[in-house]
Amino acid sequence: MRREYDFLVIGSGIAGLSYALKVADFGSVAVVSKTELKETNTAYAQGGISSVMYEPDSFEKHIEDTLIAGDGVCDIKAVKKVIEEAPEQIQQLLDWGTNFDKKDDGLFDLHREGGHSEHRILHHKDNTGAEIQRALIESIKKHPSISVFENHFAVDVITQHHLGRVTEPWMRDIECYGAYILNKYTGKVDTFLAKTTMMASGGIGSVYQTTTNPLIATGDGVAMVFRAKGIIDNMEFVQFHPTALYNLSERPSFLITEAMRGYGGILRRQNGEEFMEEYDERGCLAPRDIVARAIDNELKNRGEEFVYLDVTHKPAEETKKHFPNIFKKCLSLGIDITKDMIPVVPAAHYLCGGIKTDLKGRSSIINLYAAGECACSGLHGANRLASNSLIEALVFSNAAALDAGEKVNSIEFNHRIPEWNDEGTSHPEEMILITQSNKEVQQIMSKYVGIVRSRIRLNRAYDRLEVLYRETEALFQDSKVSEKICHLRNKINVGYLIIKMARKRKESRGLHYNIDFPDKLDN
Ligand code: FAD
Ligand code: SIN
Repeated sequence: MRREYDFLVIGSGIAGLSYALKVADFGSVAVVSKTELKETNTAYAQGGISSVMYEPDSFEKHIEDTLIAGDGVCDIKAVKKVIEEAPEQIQQLLDWGTNFDKKDDGLFDLHREGGHSEHRILHHKDNTGAEIQRALIESIKKHPSISVFENHFAVDVITQHHLGRVTEPWMRDIECYGAYILNKYTGKVDTFLAKTTMMASGGIGSVYQTTTNPLIATGDGVAMVFRAKGIIDNMEFVQFHPTALYNLSERPSFLITEAMRGYGGILRRQNGEEFMEEYDERGCLAPRDIVARAIDNELKNRGEEFVYLDVTHKPAEETKKHFPNIFKKCLSLGIDITKDMIPVVPAAHYLCGGIKTDLKGRSSIINLYAAGECACSGLHGANRLASNSLIEALVFSNAAALDAGEKVNSIEFNHRIPEWNDEGTSHPEEMILITQSNKEVQQIMSKYVGIVRSRIRLNRAYDRLEVLYRETEALFQDSKVSEKICHLRNKINVGYLIIKMARKRKESRGLHYNIDFPDKLDN
């Protein structure tokens, strides 16, 4: 089947839906989501969304905190843009019906998280993302120009090369005309032609064995743009959240929000000793790369499987009021967080790199935009400051919507695009091969390309992944397209990019720590 829309949006998280709501003023919009609209990283966000709201906070302080976390790799223009436009985008979220917690005096109840010098995190209890997702979905469903395609899986973007239409020196001579989308109800690949395409496909957590991300986070967008020869950047900077609940039987790992450390939570060894002061003068509120590495070191040195996060010294009622979901979740496992310490471990959480974009949210491929976690806008640099990602998605989706909206009428559909060619045959035994290779990818990435890296581990990871790459490409060419094989292929592409960029960086910086190159090179 062939469909045509002015705007194609791949992804239904905060980046995709906020963009869709804005471009809908300029033409027809298709939003595709590979599962249900609500199954996104966005819906899992707990801590909140950062924005300077009241004095004594200031843009300068938020900019400074973001640059310190980013460790010399941030793009100052992107940092300024996000932070200065944040209050306006928060107002937009409120207008779409999002509720954030307020204090008795009517002002927003702002939290503080690691690396932030001020209280500036707007939140909805401890499930901010679910509240944002709810408000966006309700707004989308009411909009007459937006068509929603759930259970539609984008396989590849449609591009042509060498047309001589590049307008900016950093861009590539490649143009995008939409995407091939697998309709999971019919099993057929449909051609979605679009004048402009927005990649808002989220994160990559599922490339690792242990992650806070839902299963959808397989890096599809990054892999699709990589295969289309767009520019991908900063992939070595994968953020591990220091405090995922230690519960081996659960996938994804349940997050214990950083806001709990902002609230006064203390990290302790299993014998009850505090340890963060030994690693950083900011203690438990040091940026999360430092905290995650400290925990990793503690676990390795002591041969233990978890450390504790302790809020038992805080007033029980206040703890329950601020963290009702965490309280409920832990209680269901027999942990009463007002009396018992919470066992925690680091888990893969966020990709700071991704599809390189400019200040208008444009990728290096003409008429292809990217926003949210799959994009590398320059905001996070080598390490994302907590709660800076939801706001980044909003600001760059807005910028992209303005740019795409302005030029959509000057773009033609490309009707010469052929249908998807799917002549492969499926064999039942392929499924077991795919499942096994998938486990291998996750093991390779977790064992060799995790929080602490080394030359030998990265080389081993590269060699192992290369074998899987060859096998999977052969299988892909031979098979009828399925979501499962596409996921595997995408994870291998993403793993390859992380390893390649990690091998290239001959220093330790931000989230990338290599024991063979422990120092920073001069910038
Ligand atoms: P997502 O919300 O992940 O949406 C991705 C969408 O793309 C989904 O709809 C998915 O179905 C779709 N998709 C992907 N691939 C395909 C494909 N091939 N075809 C079709 N559709 C596809 N950030 C903060 O700022 N504050 C927080 O408090 C915070 N807490 C977090 C807590 C957790 C547990 C996690 C996991 C993340 C947290 N983050 C937080 C990070 C933040 O939630 C994400 O970075 C952000 O929500 C990403 O939004 P997005 O729109 O880019 O992607
Ligand atoms: C958290 O609540 O700790 C997650 C915040 C984030 O990832 O930004």
